[in-house]
Amino acid sequence: MNITIRKAELRDVDYVFQLQQTNLLQNISSENFGKGFVRVNLSKEKIETIILNNLAVVALEENLLIGYYLMSGIDESDPATEYLRLAMKKCVYNDKSLNTYKVLTGNQACVSNEYRSLGIGKKLFIEICKLAQKRYKLLFGSITKSNNVGYSYNTSFKNSTIVWEDDERWYIVFDLDKDF
Ligand SMILES: CC(C)(COP(=O)(O)OP(=O)(O)OC[C@H]1O[C@@H](n2cnc3c(N)ncnc32)[C@H](O)[C@@H]1OP(=O)(O)O)[C@@H](O)C(=O)NCCC(=O)NCCS
Repeated sequence: MNITIRKAELRDVDYVFQLQQTNLLQNISSENFGKGFVRVNLSKEKIETIILNNLAVVALEENLLIGYYLMSGIDESDPATEYLRLAMKKCVYNDKSLNTYKVLTGNQACVSNEYRSLGIGKKLFIEICKLAQKRYKLLFGSITKSNNVGYSYNTSFKNSTIVWEDDERWYIVFDLDKDF
């Protein structure tokens, strides 16, 4: 298998969008529920902006897009991510409020069903950390508590710390100054 990991480009938008749509909680079948899902529904325009801001990486087999990792950032006007804005105000890392760090928020990782458990998700994470490291100290995101695969994936990284939880989600920080 010839897998390439690279920074996302504008030509990837439709494929990232399609993979996201297939894996949205509301679109997955009950038998695939246990394999994980994504929740924040990003428009093509939003994905385009994320790519232009250099905040997305993709995995390809030959020319086929089989995975992505993106950081959506905090959109003040988007009610769908208000939970993240509220959580950020409450979370503390190394005894300091998250707001005192350079933080990049809103992680979303997805690998096509047929390509999972091959280490591709791990490679995507390492690449997004390298990309974000130049400008940020921390990545901050959340994991829906019913997403067991999402939980073990995110907490498998050495630089991860669960910093808070509410009824529905875990909140997690990745320290970009530590080994990933
Ligand atoms: C989560 C996801 C991106 C992982 O991608 P992947 O390519 O399968 O992951 P990897 O093979 O690189 O595995 C990395 C780690 O994730 C965890 N993991 C991956 N698949 C797992 C599974 N089926 N069950 C439990 N843990 C799993 C393991 O800790 C693994 O580390 P290990 O191999 O050292 O044990 C993929 O399962 C996916 O796209 N799921 C649907 C969307 C989703 O849930 N995204 C996460 C929410 S943001």
